[in-house]
Amino acid sequence: MGTLTVSQKMTLAQDFLPINGTDFIEFYVGNAKQAAHYYKTAFGFQSCAYAGPETGVRDRASYVLKQGKIRLVLTTPLNSDNAISQHILKHGDGVKILALWVDDAYKAFEETTSRGGKVYMEPQTLTDEHGEVKMSGIYTYGETVHLFIERKNYNGVFLPGYKAWNSKYNPTDTGLLYVDHCVGNVGWNRMNPTIKWYEDVMGFVNILSFDDKQINTEYSALMSKVMSNGNGYVKFPINEPAEGKKKSQIEEYLDFYEGEGVQHIAIATNDIVSTVKQLMARGVEFLDAPPNAYYEELPNRVGKIDEDIAPLQELGILVDCDEEGYLLQLFTKPVEDRPTLFFEIIQRKGAQSFGAGNFKALFESIEREQAKRGNL
Ligand code: FE2
Repeated sequence: MGTLTVSQKMTLAQDFLPINGTDFIEFYVGNAKQAAHYYKTAFGFQSCAYAGPETGVRDRASYVLKQGKIRLVLTTPLNSDNAISQHILKHGDGVKILALWVDDAYKAFEETTSRGGKVYMEPQTLTDEHGEVKMSGIYTYGETVHLFIERKNYNGVFLPGYKAWNSKYNPTDTGLLYVDHCVGNVGWNRMNPTIKWYEDVMGFVNILSFDDKQINTEYSALMSKVMSNGNGYVKFPINEPAEGKKKSQIEEYLDFYEGEGVQHIAIATNDIVSTVKQLMARGVEFLDAPPNAYYEELPNRVGKIDEDIAPLQELGILVDCDEEGYLLQLFTKPVEDRPTLFFEIIQRKGAQSFGAGNFKALFESIEREQAKRGNL
Protein backbone atom coordinates (compact mmCIF):
# COMPACT_ATOMS: atom_id res chain seq x y z
CA MET A 1 0.00 0.00 0.00
CA GLY A 2 2.89 2.32 0.79
CA THR A 3 3.83 2.84 -2.85
CA LEU A 4 0.35 3.82 -3.99
CA THR A 5 -0.75 7.45 -4.21
CA VAL A 6 -3.75 8.60 -2.21
CA SER A 7 -5.86 8.60 -5.39
CA GLN A 8 -4.84 5.02 -6.15
CA LYS A 9 -5.64 3.88 -2.61
CA MET A 10 -9.20 5.25 -2.87
CA THR A 11 -9.94 2.76 -5.63
CA LEU A 12 -9.42 -0.07 -3.12
CA ALA A 13 -12.56 0.93 -1.19
CA GLN A 14 -15.54 -1.43 -1.32
CA ASP A 15 -18.56 -0.39 -3.34
CA PHE A 16 -21.51 -1.67 -1.28
CA LEU A 17 -22.23 1.88 -0.08
CA PRO A 18 -22.08 4.31 -3.04
CA ILE A 19 -21.99 7.93 -1.76
CA ASN A 20 -22.43 11.03 -3.93
CA GLY A 21 -21.06 13.46 -1.36
CA THR A 22 -21.94 15.24 1.87
CA ASP A 23 -25.65 16.07 1.96
CA PHE A 24 -25.68 18.29 5.04
CA ILE A 25 -24.03 18.81 8.41
CA GLU A 26 -26.39 19.34 11.35
CA PHE A 27 -25.26 21.13 14.50
CA TYR A 28 -27.10 21.02 17.80
CA VAL A 29 -26.72 24.50 19.27
CA GLY A 30 -28.05 26.46 22.23
CA ASN A 31 -29.46 29.29 20.12
CA ALA A 32 -29.94 28.49 16.45
CA LYS A 33 -31.31 31.91 15.61
CA GLN A 34 -28.09 33.57 16.74
CA ALA A 35 -25.85 30.83 15.32
CA ALA A 36 -27.53 31.28 11.92
CA HIS A 37 -26.78 34.99 12.09
CA TYR A 38 -23.11 34.21 12.81
CA TYR A 39 -22.74 31.76 9.90
CA LYS A 40 -24.45 34.22 7.54
CA THR A 41 -22.57 37.30 8.70
CA ALA A 42 -19.13 35.84 9.37
CA PHE A 43 -18.92 32.96 6.84
CA GLY A 44 -21.28 34.21 4.13
CA PHE A 45 -23.80 31.36 4.24
CA GLN A 46 -27.17 32.07 2.60
CA SER A 47 -30.62 31.58 4.12
CA CYS A 48 -32.18 28.44 2.64
CA ALA A 49 -34.88 26.73 4.71
CA TYR A 50 -36.53 26.69 8.13
CA ALA A 51 -38.55 24.31 10.29
CA GLY A 52 -40.04 25.13 13.67
CA PRO A 53 -43.30 25.98 15.40
CA GLU A 54 -44.43 28.00 12.36
CA THR A 55 -44.16 24.85 10.21
CA GLY A 56 -45.76 22.52 12.75
CA VAL A 57 -42.59 21.31 14.51
CA ARG A 58 -43.15 21.63 18.25
CA ASP A 59 -39.89 20.62 19.95
CA ARG A 60 -37.17 22.34 17.93
CA ALA A 61 -36.26 25.05 15.43
CA SER A 62 -33.88 24.35 12.54
CA TYR A 63 -32.27 26.83 10.17
CA VAL A 64 -30.72 25.58 6.92
CA LEU A 65 -27.89 27.63 5.45
CA LYS A 66 -26.28 27.16 2.08
CA GLN A 67 -23.07 28.17 0.33
CA GLY A 68 -21.78 26.45 -2.80
CA LYS A 69 -22.64 22.78 -2.28
CA ILE A 70 -22.47 23.08 1.52
CA ARG A 71 -25.61 22.83 3.62
CA LEU A 72 -25.44 23.51 7.34
CA VAL A 73 -28.45 22.81 9.57
CA LEU A 74 -28.52 24.60 12.93
CA THR A 75 -30.99 23.03 15.33
CA THR A 76 -31.99 24.23 18.78
CA PRO A 77 -34.39 22.56 21.25
CA LEU A 78 -37.47 24.45 22.45
CA ASN A 79 -37.64 22.81 25.87
CA SER A 80 -35.40 20.96 28.31
CA ASP A 81 -37.11 17.56 28.09
CA ASN A 82 -35.56 16.81 24.74
CA ALA A 83 -32.72 14.65 23.40
CA ILE A 84 -31.26 17.73 21.71
CA SER A 85 -31.15 19.57 25.05
CA GLN A 86 -29.38 16.61 26.64
CA HIS A 87 -26.85 16.60 23.79
CA ILE A 88 -26.10 20.30 24.23
CA LEU A 89 -25.95 20.03 28.02
CA LYS A 90 -23.23 17.40 27.71
CA HIS A 91 -21.30 18.43 24.61
CA GLY A 92 -22.00 22.13 24.17
CA ASP A 93 -22.67 23.29 20.63
CA GLY A 94 -21.37 20.73 18.16
CA VAL A 95 -21.96 18.50 15.16
CA LYS A 96 -24.62 15.83 15.62
CA ILE A 97 -25.16 14.64 12.04
CA LEU A 98 -22.85 14.09 9.09
CA ALA A 99 -25.46 13.36 6.41
CA LEU A 100 -24.39 11.52 3.28
CA TRP A 101 -26.09 11.80 -0.10
CA VAL A 102 -26.89 8.33 -1.46
CA ASP A 103 -28.99 6.89 -4.29
CA ASP A 104 -30.70 4.31 -2.04
CA ALA A 105 -31.16 5.11 1.66
CA TYR A 106 -32.92 1.78 2.37
CA LYS A 107 -30.07 -0.23 0.85
CA ALA A 108 -27.48 1.94 2.65
CA PHE A 109 -29.21 1.04 5.92
CA GLU A 110 -29.31 -2.69 5.10
CA GLU A 111 -25.69 -2.80 3.98
CA THR A 112 -24.32 -0.93 7.01
CA THR A 113 -26.49 -2.38 9.77
CA SER A 114 -25.95 -5.93 8.48
CA ARG A 115 -22.20 -5.22 8.89
CA GLY A 116 -22.56 -4.01 12.47
CA GLY A 117 -23.72 -0.39 12.15
CA LYS A 118 -25.76 0.67 15.20
CA VAL A 119 -29.23 1.92 14.30
CA TYR A 120 -30.00 5.61 14.81
CA MET A 121 -32.93 5.93 12.41
CA GLU A 122 -34.88 3.13 10.76
CA PRO A 123 -35.43 3.78 7.04
CA GLN A 124 -38.33 6.12 6.44
CA THR A 125 -39.92 8.01 3.57
CA LEU A 126 -40.91 11.66 4.01
CA THR A 127 -43.25 13.25 1.50
CA ASP A 128 -44.73 16.64 0.71
CA GLU A 129 -45.97 18.43 -2.41
CA HIS A 130 -42.38 18.53 -3.76
CA GLY A 131 -41.89 14.78 -3.77
CA GLU A 132 -40.29 12.30 -1.41
CA VAL A 133 -37.04 11.91 0.51
CA LYS A 134 -35.91 8.58 1.91
CA MET A 135 -33.59 8.55 4.87
CA SER A 136 -32.00 6.25 7.44
CA GLY A 137 -29.14 6.54 9.88
CA ILE A 138 -26.48 4.85 12.00
CA TYR A 139 -24.23 5.98 14.83
CA THR A 140 -20.51 6.53 14.27
CA TYR A 141 -18.00 7.66 16.96
CA GLY A 142 -19.44 9.11 20.19
CA GLU A 143 -23.01 10.32 19.76
CA THR A 144 -22.31 11.44 16.21
CA VAL A 145 -24.55 10.09 13.46
CA HIS A 146 -24.36 9.36 9.73
CA LEU A 147 -27.69 9.86 8.02
CA PHE A 148 -28.20 8.45 4.53
CA ILE A 149 -30.28 10.84 2.41
CA GLU A 150 -31.91 9.79 -0.88
CA ARG A 151 -33.41 12.79 -2.65
CA LYS A 152 -33.62 11.83 -6.33
CA ASN A 153 -37.42 12.16 -6.26
CA TYR A 154 -37.48 15.49 -4.42
CA ASN A 155 -37.31 19.06 -5.71
CA GLY A 156 -38.22 21.01 -2.57
CA VAL A 157 -35.94 23.50 -0.87
CA PHE A 158 -34.41 21.02 1.65
CA LEU A 159 -36.47 18.20 3.17
CA PRO A 160 -40.21 17.63 3.66
CA GLY A 161 -41.26 19.62 6.72
CA TYR A 162 -39.08 22.59 5.87
CA LYS A 163 -40.24 25.78 4.19
CA ALA A 164 -38.13 28.22 2.18
CA TRP A 165 -36.45 30.80 4.40
CA ASN A 166 -36.65 34.15 2.64
CA SER A 167 -34.61 36.63 4.66
CA LYS A 168 -34.20 40.34 4.12
CA TYR A 169 -30.64 40.01 5.50
CA ASN A 170 -28.40 38.44 2.88
CA PRO A 171 -24.64 39.04 3.28
CA THR A 172 -22.55 38.03 0.26
CA ASP A 173 -20.86 34.64 0.16
CA THR A 174 -17.11 34.22 0.77
CA GLY A 175 -16.31 31.68 -1.96
CA LEU A 176 -16.83 28.53 0.12
CA LEU A 177 -17.59 25.65 -2.26
CA TYR A 178 -17.94 22.20 -0.70
CA VAL A 179 -17.03 20.06 2.30
CA ASP A 180 -13.54 18.66 1.68
CA HIS A 181 -13.32 16.48 4.81
CA CYS A 182 -14.68 16.15 8.35
CA VAL A 183 -12.35 15.10 11.15
CA GLY A 184 -13.36 13.08 14.19
CA ASN A 185 -11.54 12.89 17.54
CA VAL A 186 -11.73 9.54 19.31
CA GLY A 187 -10.50 8.43 22.75
CA TRP A 188 -7.39 6.55 23.86
CA ASN A 189 -6.98 3.22 21.99
CA ARG A 190 -10.12 3.94 19.98
CA MET A 191 -8.36 4.71 16.69
CA ASN A 192 -8.03 1.17 15.41
CA PRO A 193 -11.59 0.07 16.26
CA THR A 194 -12.90 3.23 14.58
CA ILE A 195 -10.80 2.63 11.46
CA LYS A 196 -12.00 -0.96 11.33
CA TRP A 197 -15.59 0.23 11.75
CA TYR A 198 -15.25 2.51 8.70
CA GLU A 199 -13.69 -0.34 6.73
CA ASP A 200 -16.17 -3.03 7.75
CA VAL A 201 -19.44 -1.11 8.08
CA MET A 202 -18.98 1.64 5.45
CA GLY A 203 -16.53 -0.02 3.01
CA PHE A 204 -14.09 2.90 3.36
CA VAL A 205 -10.33 2.56 2.87
CA ASN A 206 -7.46 3.99 4.92
CA ILE A 207 -5.62 6.34 2.54
CA LEU A 208 -3.14 8.01 4.91
CA SER A 209 -1.71 7.43 8.39
CA PHE A 210 0.40 9.55 10.72
CA ASP A 211 1.78 8.22 13.97
CA ASP A 212 2.82 10.14 17.04
CA LYS A 213 6.46 10.23 15.85
CA GLN A 214 5.41 12.37 12.88
CA ILE A 215 2.82 14.47 14.73
CA ASN A 216 4.70 15.52 17.79
CA THR A 217 5.66 19.03 18.81
CA GLU A 218 7.45 19.90 22.01
CA TYR A 219 4.36 19.02 24.01
CA SER A 220 1.38 17.71 22.12
CA ALA A 221 1.11 14.42 20.28
CA LEU A 222 -1.58 12.67 18.31
CA MET A 223 -2.14 9.94 15.77
CA SER A 224 -4.25 10.39 12.66
CA LYS A 225 -5.64 8.05 9.99
CA VAL A 226 -7.68 9.19 7.01
CA MET A 227 -10.63 7.10 5.82
CA SER A 228 -12.13 7.67 2.36
CA ASN A 229 -14.97 6.24 0.33
CA GLY A 230 -14.23 4.95 -3.17
CA ASN A 231 -14.76 8.14 -5.16
CA GLY A 232 -13.01 10.29 -2.54
CA TYR A 233 -16.04 12.58 -2.18
CA VAL A 234 -16.29 11.72 1.51
CA LYS A 235 -13.17 11.69 3.68
CA PHE A 236 -13.10 11.24 7.43
CA PRO A 237 -9.71 11.63 9.12
CA ILE A 238 -9.74 10.19 12.65
CA ASN A 239 -7.48 11.49 15.44
CA GLU A 240 -6.49 9.80 18.68
CA PRO A 241 -4.45 11.49 21.43
CA ALA A 242 -0.92 10.28 22.09
CA GLU A 243 1.37 10.62 25.09
CA GLY A 244 3.50 13.77 25.04
CA LYS A 245 5.26 15.94 27.56
CA LYS A 246 1.97 17.71 28.20
CA LYS A 247 -1.67 17.29 27.35
CA SER A 248 -2.57 16.40 23.75
CA GLN A 249 -4.84 18.86 21.96
CA ILE A 250 -7.08 15.85 21.21
CA GLU A 251 -7.38 15.13 24.93
CA GLU A 252 -8.34 18.75 25.53
CA TYR A 253 -11.12 18.32 22.98
CA LEU A 254 -12.32 15.04 24.53
CA ASP A 255 -12.38 16.65 27.99
CA PHE A 256 -14.41 19.64 26.89
CA TYR A 257 -16.71 17.89 24.41
CA GLU A 258 -17.12 15.20 27.09
CA GLY A 259 -16.62 12.48 24.56
CA GLU A 260 -15.78 11.73 20.96
CA GLY A 261 -16.99 14.01 18.22
CA VAL A 262 -16.28 16.13 15.17
CA GLN A 263 -13.10 18.17 15.60
CA HIS A 264 -13.09 20.18 12.38
CA ILE A 265 -14.87 20.65 9.10
CA ALA A 266 -12.67 21.51 6.14
CA ILE A 267 -14.30 23.64 3.47
CA ALA A 268 -12.84 24.12 0.00
CA THR A 269 -12.38 27.38 -1.88
CA ASN A 270 -10.89 28.15 -5.31
CA ASP A 271 -9.20 31.31 -4.02
CA ILE A 272 -8.02 30.98 -0.45
CA VAL A 273 -6.45 34.45 -0.29
CA SER A 274 -9.72 36.14 -1.25
CA THR A 275 -11.85 33.86 0.97
CA VAL A 276 -9.65 34.27 4.04
CA LYS A 277 -9.43 38.05 3.60
CA GLN A 278 -13.23 38.25 3.54
CA LEU A 279 -13.64 35.89 6.52
CA MET A 280 -11.15 37.91 8.57
CA ALA A 281 -12.88 41.18 7.67
CA ARG A 282 -16.17 39.64 8.87
CA GLY A 283 -14.73 38.63 12.23
CA VAL A 284 -13.79 34.96 11.79
CA GLU A 285 -10.82 34.32 14.07
CA PHE A 286 -7.94 32.26 12.71
CA LEU A 287 -4.94 30.70 14.38
CA ASP A 288 -1.87 32.93 14.48
CA ALA A 289 0.49 32.95 11.51
CA PRO A 290 3.59 30.75 11.85
CA PRO A 291 6.97 32.48 12.30
CA ASN A 292 8.70 34.16 9.34
CA ALA A 293 11.08 31.21 9.04
CA TYR A 294 8.13 29.08 7.86
CA TYR A 295 7.71 31.28 4.77
CA GLU A 296 11.47 31.55 4.17
CA GLU A 297 11.68 27.75 4.03
CA LEU A 298 8.51 27.39 1.95
CA PRO A 299 10.05 27.43 -1.57
CA ASN A 300 12.50 24.70 -0.54
CA ARG A 301 9.83 22.57 1.07
CA VAL A 302 6.99 22.76 -1.50
CA GLY A 303 8.75 23.97 -4.68
CA LYS A 304 7.17 26.43 -7.08
CA ILE A 305 3.59 27.54 -6.40
CA ASP A 306 1.26 29.83 -8.39
CA GLU A 307 0.61 32.19 -5.47
CA ASP A 308 2.78 35.06 -4.23
CA ILE A 309 4.17 34.25 -0.81
CA ALA A 310 3.65 37.78 0.63
CA PRO A 311 -0.18 37.61 0.89
CA LEU A 312 0.02 34.04 2.21
CA GLN A 313 2.41 35.20 4.92
CA GLU A 314 0.29 38.24 5.71
CA LEU A 315 -2.78 36.04 6.27
CA GLY A 316 -0.90 33.14 7.87
CA ILE A 317 -1.95 30.66 5.16
CA LEU A 318 -0.07 27.34 5.30
CA VAL A 319 1.17 25.38 2.27
CA ASP A 320 2.02 21.70 1.92
CA CYS A 321 2.66 19.31 -0.95
CA ASP A 322 2.53 15.62 -1.82
CA GLU A 323 3.41 13.62 -4.95
CA GLU A 324 0.18 14.79 -6.67
CA GLY A 325 0.46 18.55 -6.11
CA TYR A 326 0.14 21.09 -3.31
CA LEU A 327 -2.52 22.58 -1.05
CA LEU A 328 -3.09 25.78 0.89
CA GLN A 329 -4.92 25.75 4.22
CA LEU A 330 -5.74 27.79 7.30
CA PHE A 331 -7.56 26.93 10.51
CA THR A 332 -10.00 28.98 12.57
CA LYS A 333 -9.99 29.11 16.31
CA PRO A 334 -12.81 27.09 17.93
CA VAL A 335 -16.18 28.63 17.02
CA GLU A 336 -17.68 28.13 20.48
CA ASP A 337 -16.40 28.77 24.00
CA ARG A 338 -15.54 25.15 24.69
CA PRO A 339 -12.28 24.43 22.79
CA THR A 340 -13.97 21.91 20.51
CA LEU A 341 -15.16 22.38 16.90
CA PHE A 342 -13.24 24.57 14.45
CA PHE A 343 -13.14 25.05 10.67
CA GLU A 344 -10.41 24.63 8.07
CA ILE A 345 -10.33 26.57 4.81
CA ILE A 346 -8.51 24.59 2.12
CA GLN A 347 -7.56 25.11 -1.51
CA ARG A 348 -6.25 22.07 -3.33
CA LYS A 349 -3.86 22.41 -6.25
CA GLY A 350 -3.56 18.72 -7.03
CA ALA A 351 -2.59 17.47 -3.57
CA GLN A 352 -4.90 14.80 -2.13
CA SER A 353 -3.35 14.81 1.34
CA PHE A 354 -4.12 16.86 4.45
CA GLY A 355 -1.14 19.07 5.22
CA ALA A 356 1.04 16.78 7.34
CA GLY A 357 4.00 19.04 6.57
CA ASN A 358 2.16 21.81 8.40
CA PHE A 359 1.35 19.81 11.50
CA LYS A 360 4.32 21.13 13.46
CA ALA A 361 3.63 24.81 12.69
CA LEU A 362 -0.09 24.27 13.16
CA PHE A 363 0.17 22.45 16.46
CA GLU A 364 2.56 24.98 17.91
CA SER A 365 -0.06 27.60 17.14
CA ILE A 366 -2.82 25.44 18.69
CA GLU A 367 -0.68 24.90 21.76
CA ARG A 368 -0.24 28.63 22.24
CA GLU A 369 -4.04 28.86 22.38
CA GLN A 370 -4.25 25.80 24.65
CA ALA A 371 -1.74 27.38 27.03
CA LYS A 372 -3.83 30.59 27.14
CA ARG A 373 -6.79 28.43 28.24
CA GLY A 374 -4.68 26.77 30.95
CA ASN A 375 -5.13 23.35 29.34
CA LEU A 376 -1.59 22.45 28.29
FE1 FE2 B 1 -8.20 18.99 8.01
